[in-house]
Amino acid sequence: MSQAAPLKVAVVGLGFVGLPLSLAYWQSGAEVFGAEIDPNLRHELSQGITHHLESDEGKPIAAILRDALDSGRYHLLAEAAAATRSSDATIVTVGIPHRGDGLDLSLLQGALRQVAQAAGQGHLILLRSTVPPGTTRRDLLGVVAELGKRPGVEVYAAYCPERIAEGRAFHEFRNMPVILGAFDEASLERAKEVVSFVTHGGIATTESVEAAELSKVIENVQRDVNIAIAQELARACEAAGVDVFEVIRLANTHERVHLLEPGPGVGGFCLPLALSYFLPFAEAGHVETPTLLAARNTNAAVPKVLADRAVAHAKAIAPGERPRVAVFGLAMKDYSNDARLSPPIEVCQLLLDAGAEVRAVDPAVPQTFPFKGDDPAWAVEGAHVLMLLSRQRELESWLADPSHMLALRKGALVADARNWLRQAPDLAELGLTYWRI
Ligand SMILES: NC(=O)c1ccc[n+]([C@@H]2O[C@H](COP(=O)([O-])OP(=O)(O)OC[C@H]3O[C@@H](n4cnc5c(N)ncnc54)[C@H](O)[C@@H]3O)[C@@H](O)[C@H]2O)c1
Repeated sequence: MSQAAPLKVAVVGLGFVGLPLSLAYWQSGAEVFGAEIDPNLRHELSQGITHHLESDEGKPIAAILRDALDSGRYHLLAEAAAATRSSDATIVTVGIPHRGDGLDLSLLQGALRQVAQAAGQGHLILLRSTVPPGTTRRDLLGVVAELGKRPGVEVYAAYCPERIAEGRAFHEFRNMPVILGAFDEASLERAKEVVSFVTHGGIATTESVEAAELSKVIENVQRDVNIAIAQELARACEAAGVDVFEVIRLANTHERVHLLEPGPGVGGFCLPLALSYFLPFAEAGHVETPTLLAARNTNAAVPKVLADRAVAHAKAIAPGERPRVAVFGLAMKDYSNDARLSPPIEVCQLLLDAGAEVRAVDPAVPQTFPFKGDDPAWAVEGAHVLMLLSRQRELESWLADPSHMLALRKGALVADARNWLRQAPDLAELGLTYWRI
């Protein structure tokens, strides 16, 4: 544990980013005031319960949370303002949901206003959410100034986009280089102190906060485009009988190439929404972005490709019967409990729309769905298709016994969208067809 000067830090929003970040500050010796508006989540956290799959050097996040609560140095609060009043610095990690066809900034704006109102002399407000360019200037700096608190003199304001990948949060909070932007030197210096309390990776600073905001948005857009390339490569490789994962493995031996992998689509709040953060910025300058739009459309179309293939196979092997599809993995990516904007859930919905019966399992995803159960054996029993959509260790262990697949209908398709069954297994011996994306 660090011997750095005691720091009192508020973390507003205890979700996928805020919870592990608040615990990383606690691990580094800070007194932490975590504010979470959702009473159910707050109650679970107060009992030491979290569904997140993070761990730090083998210690699960729930155990770290319980240690933090027991220490008396980690406090859970409902109000952002109360957390800010108890602290020297406030880190805001409230997300921006997508509703209808637009981004809803109201939660984030509300949180920033509450924090700015409560911030006393010398308080730092550090925004870590991913935001459309211009948000920090308008909704943080602008509000601080509007409240009559001189930015950079009475209250410090800065922006530090979060870059962690879920599942590696603790390691990456400490080691991932970060971007830090502020409108004035004093805020930048104070933010550097607070960020480096946990982060030992490099800190790239800028006085262009808009550049910092854009850098995060384009990191996400770049991953979306990269995955779209992999999806199109996968289709072309399949048609030619070439193993796409082998192509990617070989291409990535080049030091300046990093192709991502194809899958059931692109999910979560970060990547699929990234373009909606970027487009208004481009459109304001009358700049067209056909490449980025095409990539987004490619990724958005993948769940339908998968669902259509499953239904077609079921109808081919059992004409006249209602297609029955088993789905393994509902999370938006492998080894995650995050089912927000999850392509596997979209696949399930498309299958239901096509008249199929769907039986899905995912031990890590806490949400309930009418088509979700707990038992993999229940899911595969008599299914015409088994879809492997996002990996979970428990399901991988279950699948490691090939005899479990004997419960599938003879001639069933095993559709592997995440290269689960790495060495193409000899499913033909079991009377099954194997298809890997
Ligand atoms: N999930 C990731 O792996 C990841 C990675 C990098 C960046 N990000 C970005 O970080 C931000 C947060 O993402 P997340 O996945 O942690 O979101 P999240 O929805 O899991 O967490 C945000 C939390 O803030 C709470 N909240 C909202 N308003 C509040 C208020 N006024 N006071 C207190 N709590 C409030 C919500 O109830 C929620 O629990 C987003 O901008 C996201 O794009 C996320």
